[in-house]
Amino acid sequence: MTFIDVKHLKKVYTSKLGSKGTEALKDVNFSVEKGEFISVMGESGSGKTTLLNILSTLDSATEGEVYLDDQPLSSIKDKKVSRFRREQLGFIFQDFNLLDNFTLKDNILLPLVLSRKAVDEMETALQPLVERLGIAHLLNNYPYEVSGGQKQRAAVARALITQPKVILADEPTGALDSKSSQNLMEILSDVHQNGQTIVMVTHSARAASYSSRVLFIRDGQVYHELYRGDKEPDAFIDSISKSLLVSSKGRV
Ligand SMILES: Nc1ncnc2c1ncn2[C@@H]1O[C@H](COP(=O)(O)OP(=O)(O)O)[C@@H](O)[C@H]1O
Ligand SMILES: [Mg+2]
Repeated sequence: MTFIDVKHLKKVYTSKLGSKGTEALKDVNFSVEKGEFISVMGESGSGKTTLLNILSTLDSATEGEVYLDDQPLSSIKDKKVSRFRREQLGFIFQDFNLLDNFTLKDNILLPLVLSRKAVDEMETALQPLVERLGIAHLLNNYPYEVSGGQKQRAAVARALITQPKVILADEPTGALDSKSSQNLMEILSDVHQNGQTIVMVTHSARAASYSSRVLFIRDGQVYHELYRGDKEPDAFIDSISKSLLVSSKGRV
């Protein structure tokens, strides 16, 4: 069942001075099944963040449409868009985006607080999640008191606590050392095994190897995709790296 459908997505950034503008996305087409874990890879400047920003309703497309569960994102009225984002989507960023003067617990609960959920409902959602993520003992700590890996696990908890339709992650391992990266990817893989749909942008072939399919974008278009199928992780990393190599050779 198609869950996210991206149709002829085009994005042109125009400057106020009326110059020609930058075509960040030319014609992007792909669809994501419910429960898929997709990675998006491509060189710097290829349009990955632009794509993720449109999927997350933070930015709008110049042309084309994104359907989430058959709903065109452009049909969501301005007043409803922040609630939609908070309740239907979960975000994980490279630099965690935790609030420094909130404890981990308050950071994780923030989306539920903003949606005015009852306190006991929040506690019920919180406990199993933080135990699963191994941060139950850190709930009263502030972000600056914990490691990068722990911060990112808190961000994952914040993303999951609303039981979103989709998790959107932009370079989630970008600020982590290799051990914390591996730990985070194992967590995301586990979240995926539990049926969560995930779209992740990454530079890392190793991180991408945890997903079920990798999309490669270049010059604002998807030009290649790889399915993991029943490949062993190392074999999948190999084929992802080869695809990236071919792509960069193709440019010179
Ligand atoms: N807000 C913006 N205004 C103008 N140009 C932008 C903006 N954001 C991105 N771009 C341009 O769009 C292209 C794609 O950028 P981006 O989506 O950030 O790529 P990636 O995440 O793959 O590095 C780049 O040429 C970039 O300079
Ligand atoms: Mg980017």
